[in-house]
Amino acid sequence: MAKKKATRKSAKPRPARKRSTMVGADFLSLTQRSPADVVSLFQTAAKVKRNIRPYRRALEGTTTVLLFEKSSLRTRITFETGINALGGTALYMDHANQRLGERESVRDYGKNLERWVDCVVARVYRQSVIEELADNASIPIINALSDRFHPCQALADLFSLWERAGGLDGLRLAYIGDGNNVCHSLMHAASMLGVDMTVITPAGYSPAPDVVEESLALAAESGAVLAFSHDPAVIESHHAVYTDVWVSMGQADEAGKRRSAFADYAVTPSLMQTASRGIKGGSLFMHCLPALRGVEVMDEVIDAPTSIVYDQAENRMHVQNALLLHMFGKA
Ligand code: CP
Ligand code: NVA
Repeated sequence: MAKKKATRKSAKPRPARKRSTMVGADFLSLTQRSPADVVSLFQTAAKVKRNIRPYRRALEGTTTVLLFEKSSLRTRITFETGINALGGTALYMDHANQRLGERESVRDYGKNLERWVDCVVARVYRQSVIEELADNASIPIINALSDRFHPCQALADLFSLWERAGGLDGLRLAYIGDGNNVCHSLMHAASMLGVDMTVITPAGYSPAPDVVEESLALAAESGAVLAFSHDPAVIESHHAVYTDVWVSMGQADEAGKRRSAFADYAVTPSLMQTASRGIKGGSLFMHCLPALRGVEVMDEVIDAPTSIVYDQAENRMHVQNALLLHMFGKA
């Protein structure tokens, strides 16, 4: 399938588009979709989640390759299961022991893959690698996590909140922990969809300045309030509290330093109580998983009825199915 959009010359962040067709388009960051696109993806995801039967053959005759440089449970299984359920073929290519670009150039990877398959889902160490792959392949490329972004996760997260709260109007979301890939994409998604978001990180672990700038621009358009703090006390009165691991894949050598820097940022029952002040039914707890129980989140929080972590995990498949259906022009 040929891409509809023009080939990019650089890996610089691109501004959100107001209107777009998602057919044949890469998904390297949420900024490649408009807020209207995201709402449309949610509507398709809800429809396909309710009844997948009409879509059972939608991806028939298509092959998607999953190129993963890092481990995965949710992303791999939800893409493989989703693609199979829609009648397509998914091929997993394990790249854990060899980084993309080592055996042959990323450019040649793109130029070969576009001759055989219809879509690539890539989990990579560096965002620049997936950008380079996209620049050199005429087929759509989906970011299944990089050092900078995890856009499929953020789609599932906001969709889960939307589903649980019956909409996103007036919601206040707090993210506490590392200003990492998950935080970046969540900032994009919340800002696009008008959800107020407070980002609480230790000093030195704030989100990247360029992603903050992009998100503030998106928030200015949607009317969302995006706030940043190093003080865990500002978690008070948020409808949902989100955290992620303190040590992401590829950061094992910083584990000791990170554990001490984040010690005051764990999601404990007492932190959830503060967050729940003034929130009817209490704040929801969110995590992309995998979680390190007893480290960034306590068992009592992740196992509470207000935790929606497994809804988020399930919804990975439904939003990705919607993404693929729109990408292949079958929504
Ligand atoms: N949330 C997420 O991406 O999980 P995996 O790393 O298991 O794919
Ligand atoms: N921030 C984590 C997310 C895992 C889904 C990582 O990159 O390892």
